[in-house]
Amino acid sequence: MTKPRLYSGMQPSADSLHAGNYIGALVQWKQMQEDYDAFFSVVDLHAITVPQDPAELREKTRRTAAQYIAAGIEPSRSTLYVQSHVPAHAQLAWVLNTITGFGEASRMTQFKDKSSRYGADATNVGLFAYPVLMAADILLYQTEVVPVGDDQRQHVELTRDLAERFNSRFGDTFTIPKAQIPADSARIYDLQTPESKMSKSAESPAGILWLLDEPKVTQKKIMRAVTDNEGVVAYDRENKPGVSNLMSMYSALTGASHEAIADEFAGRGYGDFKKAVAEVVVAEFEPVRSRALELLHDPAELDRLLAVNAARANEVAEATLAAVYERVGF
Ligand code: ADP
Ligand code: NA
Repeated sequence: MTKPRLYSGMQPSADSLHAGNYIGALVQWKQMQEDYDAFFSVVDLHAITVPQDPAELREKTRRTAAQYIAAGIEPSRSTLYVQSHVPAHAQLAWVLNTITGFGEASRMTQFKDKSSRYGADATNVGLFAYPVLMAADILLYQTEVVPVGDDQRQHVELTRDLAERFNSRFGDTFTIPKAQIPADSARIYDLQTPESKMSKSAESPAGILWLLDEPKVTQKKIMRAVTDNEGVVAYDRENKPGVSNLMSMYSALTGASHEAIADEFAGRGYGDFKKAVAEVVVAEFEPVRSRALELLHDPAELDRLLAVNAARANEVAEATLAAVYERVGF
């Protein structure tokens, strides 16, 4: 029996992924690759919707791919590739642009947020069309399941609308995909401002746990994480966001429930708890970090893996694109 298709991706927009990317995405992807025919992309076409230095982009793309593999995405099982190695993404996006309403695209809230952050002069048409490219990414592989963060829900909705529209206008061509949003507990917040989610665009670097940080740095950041004056390890997102965030991380990496964690640390101080969290995080990240660095030491081998995987992605993508071209009259 063939396994259902899965597609997801991340932008190569930093030297390292962070604990949110790891717990909220990579850990889930790793588990899902058993049950799905999974395609995991490093979406460099998306990355250039904001200015990038070319040499740095190339390096970040490799580093992101290395971290996928180091985190357990197996390039011999899943298809792990770089988006720009598969020309059909841009080709299908063009076709989908022509069936996307201008008003429909204008309603995408992520574009509104980002364009207001950058200002009208720094905003480009690529950023506006970003969700259409994302629809192409997903539809090219006849994807059934798209594991994405909650902030991408609207984009997957647009993808479904475009697939249905194309199918009804030109004949059945695309599988209609579904978003799979991780549980709230897989959402990781900034260690210094635990009201906001951990993000590579955060203001204070002390709040971000990078997967490629040295263990000592990881430990220091966790020991200095913002908590509260209560001294009680209890889960309460609203009133104890710092402690709750540390509990989420501990829970995600050990499988212990919030109640079990509260019991384990009852009557002990935050210092003890933070030490335990740091231990668990370091134990999890350290093998990933050293494997990623090992892979980055041999760029030729990494490029070879990516080329083999891009060939598989191209095969599937080209079949979909050929059907699309035929239907639209090319
Ligand atoms: P960032 O917010 O750092 O720019 P991205 O938006 O590129 O990260 O997200 C890449 C993937 O990582 C997505 O699947 C997203 O849902 C997940 N992710 C990002 N930040 C977090 C977080 N703080 N907690 C959980 N998952 C996250
Ligand atoms: Na593969």
